[in-house]
Amino acid sequence: MNLLADFEQFVRQAEPLRDRTWFHLGGPAEFFAEPRNEEELTALVIRCRAESLPIRLLGGGSNVLVRDEGVRGMVLHLTGEAFSGIHVSGRTVTAGGGAKLGHVVSTAVREGLAGLEPLVGIPGTIGGALHGNAGSRGGDIGQWTTQATVITRSGKIAERGRVDLEFAYRSSSLDELVILRAKFELEEDSPEELTKRMQKEWITRKASQPLGHQSAGCIFKNPRGMSAGMLLEQAGLKGARVGGAEISQRHANFIIAENGATSADVLKLIDLARSRVAERLGVELETEIEIW
Ligand code: EPU
Repeated sequence: MNLLADFEQFVRQAEPLRDRTWFHLGGPAEFFAEPRNEEELTALVIRCRAESLPIRLLGGGSNVLVRDEGVRGMVLHLTGEAFSGIHVSGRTVTAGGGAKLGHVVSTAVREGLAGLEPLVGIPGTIGGALHGNAGSRGGDIGQWTTQATVITRSGKIAERGRVDLEFAYRSSSLDELVILRAKFELEEDSPEELTKRMQKEWITRKASQPLGHQSAGCIFKNPRGMSAGMLLEQAGLKGARVGGAEISQRHANFIIAENGATSADVLKLIDLARSRVAERLGVELETEIEIW
């Protein structure tokens, strides 16, 4: 395909994705692109559309399971200064879609701006966080978001203001192809207070979740008013295994992939967990992670 020749500076073929995801599993992307600026990005989006090549956005890889057979089409990855800058002006933080959520949280705290600190420890990028409205019990990213600049599926840059933005538990109206950057309006507070709050949140999280393992955060969404982790534990699934994949003993909504595990192991374990919870407790669980 001459797409490769035309975009050779930043598009590669048959690119392994496994080490770009937190599970470290799965096959390659048919095409993989790291555009260096908005012009390259929009030109590529328009070209893929013209050639009917499906496009997916990979953020930090912390909420994605790539199937063993890999991904057909184009996988876009936004790296570099053009997509990951963070700027603070008064109470407004502007961050690129490729910026790490953790960097944005720590910048806000350092600048004495409150709101995002409950998101401490959540991996991934701003684009990924907005796409799935990342959050914790203390709040979510959507409640602080006042504007987003996106690229639509047809390759047009567009602004989404407060009236267009709707966020709910792990869902967002920002379902456009690319989230280029976003603005967050925060509240003034003392950096010392914020740091304390952030540390407290981090300690609680570390005590209850198997962080630092080959995992991808919570597998299932919490069904209304219930905890998926608790349901999975009640269904006796802690420690359940398929091949090299195991349901965490520490928190049942996490799956740990050992060395040698495959994506198929994880997928079978997800199916097993879902059907056992349905059978024993009558609750249908829905996955939170994206399966590519
Ligand atoms: N629980 C169990 N067994 C388990 C796990 C949890 O009984 O194996 C119980 C806990 O004892 C507690 C309740 O379930 O009473 C809730 O557990 P926890 O406080 O760990 O919170 P969660 O609802 O499981 C949610 C988010 C996490 C987020 C934490 C903390 C979802 C699916 N999960 O977990 O987000 O970090 O709150 O704010 O919304 C993620 O989305 O990937 C994620 C990790």
